[in-house]
Amino acid sequence: MACYHSLFLILIAAAASFQTNGQLSPDYYSSTCPQAFPIVKAAVAAAIKNETRIGASLLRLHFHDCFVNGCDGSVLLDDNATFIGEKTAVPNNNSARGFNVVDNIKAQLEKACPGVVSCADLLAIAARDSVVQLGGPSWKVRLGRRDSTTASRSVANTSIPPPTSNLSALISSFSAQGLSIKDLVTLAGSHTIGMARCTSFRGHIYNDSNIDPSFASSLRRTCPRSGNDSVLAPLDRQTPTFFDNLYYKNLLNKTGLLHSDQELFNGSSTDVWVKSYAANISLFFQEFPKSMIKMGNVKPLTGSAGEIRINCRKAN
Ligand code: HEM
Ligand SMILES: *[C@@H]1O[C@H](CO)[C@@H](O)[C@H](O)[C@H]1NC(C)=O
Ligand SMILES: *[C@@H]1O[C@H](CO)[C@@H](O)[C@H](O)[C@H]1NC(C)=O
Ligand SMILES: *[C@@H]1O[C@H](CO)[C@@H](O)[C@H](O)[C@H]1NC(C)=O
Ligand SMILES: *[C@@H]1O[C@H](CO)[C@@H](O)[C@H](O)[C@H]1NC(C)=O
Ligand SMILES: *[C@@H]1O[C@H](CO)[C@@H](O)[C@H](O)[C@H]1NC(C)=O
Ligand SMILES: *[C@@H]1O[C@H](CO)[C@@H](O)[C@H](O)[C@H]1NC(C)=O
Ligand SMILES: *[C@@H]1O[C@H](CO)[C@@H](O)[C@H](O)[C@H]1NC(C)=O
Ligand SMILES: *[C@@H]1O[C@H](CO)[C@@H](O)[C@H](O)[C@H]1NC(C)=O
Ligand SMILES: *[C@@H]1O[C@H](CO)[C@@H](O)[C@H](O)[C@H]1NC(C)=O
Ligand SMILES: *[C@@H]1O[C@H](CO)[C@@H](O)[C@H](O)[C@H]1NC(C)=O
Repeated sequence: MACYHSLFLILIAAAASFQTNGQLSPDYYSSTCPQAFPIVKAAVAAAIKNETRIGASLLRLHFHDCFVNGCDGSVLLDDNATFIGEKTAVPNNNSARGFNVVDNIKAQLEKACPGVVSCADLLAIAARDSVVQLGGPSWKVRLGRRDSTTASRSVANTSIPPPTSNLSALISSFSAQGLSIKDLVTLAGSHTIGMARCTSFRGHIYNDSNIDPSFASSLRRTCPRSGNDSVLAPLDRQTPTFFDNLYYKNLLNKTGLLHSDQELFNGSSTDVWVKSYAANISLFFQEFPKSMIKMGNVKPLTGSAGEIRINCRKAN
């Protein structure tokens, strides 16, 4: 009897430590909001049908959420007279997008299951559904994150790596989130979809030597040394609306768009991963989900921490 009793206590303790370790679960909403997955999936499909790029934008929002004090929906909070959030931090200002789509999904979730599904989880599901919708691999999204009531512009300024980063800066930035060098190369494969502004790749096309000369000169035609800051170019010059491994193939022939992209294939330890993913899309599709799940596990708020925001733009 005493023995059963202590086993019971151990189980309780194990379950509790699951929560405090921030352990998430794919079944988290299976009884409280079984409609959550179908709602997000249909809304993401509709948003991509309206504008293909939005899938990339939604994937990036989850990344920018997770890298700033954990995956807690902080990136979604609007600035107001008494509050400065992350939307106007350097990596996000005039760049992060998809907020209206998030609002639309959240409104549908609130209608189906009021006060149940967090904005942080919404972003994690929408990121997965975007990747799948654009032809990439699928995975079981872990859920149970709660939403922050605060955000940090200064942490967003410093924790999200800029496109001017060298390899060692990229490695430290990912390492600060508990992500490995392999996770870095794998997650950077997200740049197989979406666009970047002239201001993000100007340095690479004018100052770097590790770029295909004709690729650089064609980009210089619309991205001058100064001005045209918002002119867009595809991160994957070949198939920017299709989730595949051409991002890595581009790096092999020096047609990565960002300085930070080409840093991953410039004669160092990460070259081997770039080569493997360029040669084997199945390998990339096998590893990408693992790294996404790892990124999605970064410091979630669980248990009674945080809240379930009703409006993703504002603390309750
Ligand atoms: C390795 C370090 C990374 C750097 C330095 C970086 C930097 C950037 C930059 C500068 C842009 C273009 C922003 C603009 O000009 O408006 C961009 C776009 C994008 N990034 Fe990254 N990124 C990194 C990693 C990631 C990761 C880990 C993900 C996802 C898991 C991701 C997903 C995306 C996507 C999908 C876009 C296109 C967004 C759109 O078209 O709206 N990036 N990134
Ligand atoms: C469709 O996409 C355009 C951008 O191409 C955007 O301005 C508009 O709000 C989107 N409409 C819906 C219903 O999402
Ligand atoms: C964000 O961008 C807008 C428009 O370009 C600019 O006016 C504003 O100063 C920027 N905010 C910050 C904090 O850099
Ligand atoms: C973030 O960076 C921008 C641009 O450098 C700067 O204006 C702003 O003060 C920074 N914000 C914080 C809180 O660090
Ligand atoms: C990489 O960038 C960091 C931060 O900008 C800098 O301190 C460091 O010297 C650079 N390392 C190399 C090898 O260029
Ligand atoms: C390119 O290099 C020049 C000269 O070193 C420097 O002044 C400029 O800031 C660099 N441009 C970018 C966008 O990095
Ligand atoms: C890339 O590698 C070359 C050759 O090692 C080196 O000269 C260069 O500084 C590196 N980085 C860039 C951005 O060209
Ligand atoms: C600015 O971009 C437009 C295309 O959006 C292009 O037609 C124009 O030539 C560019 N201007 C410069 C000075 O590069
Ligand atoms: C780079 O590789 C891709 C295919 O992997 C090819 O389509 C493209 O033409 C190559 N570009 C150059 C400049 O070699
Ligand atoms: C490609 O990667 C997959 C998944 O890891 C593996 O099963 C397969 O053997 C690899 N193919 C080649 C040709 O290496
Ligand atoms: C400003 O935003 C913060 C964070 O979302 C929120 O707590 C606060 O209530 C907002 N203030 C107003 C006046 O809306």
